[in-house]
Amino acid sequence: MYTEKVLDHFSNPRNMGELQDANGVGMVGNAKCGDIMQMFLKIDDDGIIEDVGFKTFGCGAAIATSSMATEMIKGKSINEALNLSNAAVVEALEGLPPQKIHCSVLAEEAVKAALEDYYKRKGVDMPEELKKKAEHKDVHEVQE
Ligand code: FES
Repeated sequence: MYTEKVLDHFSNPRNMGELQDANGVGMVGNAKCGDIMQMFLKIDDDGIIEDVGFKTFGCGAAIATSSMATEMIKGKSINEALNLSNAAVVEALEGLPPQKIHCSVLAEEAVKAALEDYYKRKGVDMPEELKKKAEHKDVHEVQE
């Protein structure tokens, strides 16, 4: 049912835990299953994601997708991170069962929420060209 990659990221999650010096934190949840994901980003002055951490209170697929998402955005620019789609995360994990696709959506949304928070904390507006990419649903609104 689950690929080797999913099982690997589930049993050995990368970048798990809170980042004390994060300057962007996002939290999203899925109202149906009740799972919650938190993403912590440390973004440097050049807009590069220096460090990433995550905490997921949820199913195994949610843990695996958040772990994979952190690996995919670490060292990347804000723009690149905003381009991260749940489909790309699923592909990197070599697939997820259909009923678990919504778990990967949570990972994409958490990254976007953290980037939005980064701009909020800085007290600056997110550049217009990024705003569209950053659209996401707030905590408890993410559905399948
Ligand atoms: Fe809810 Fe996986 S079952 S995120």
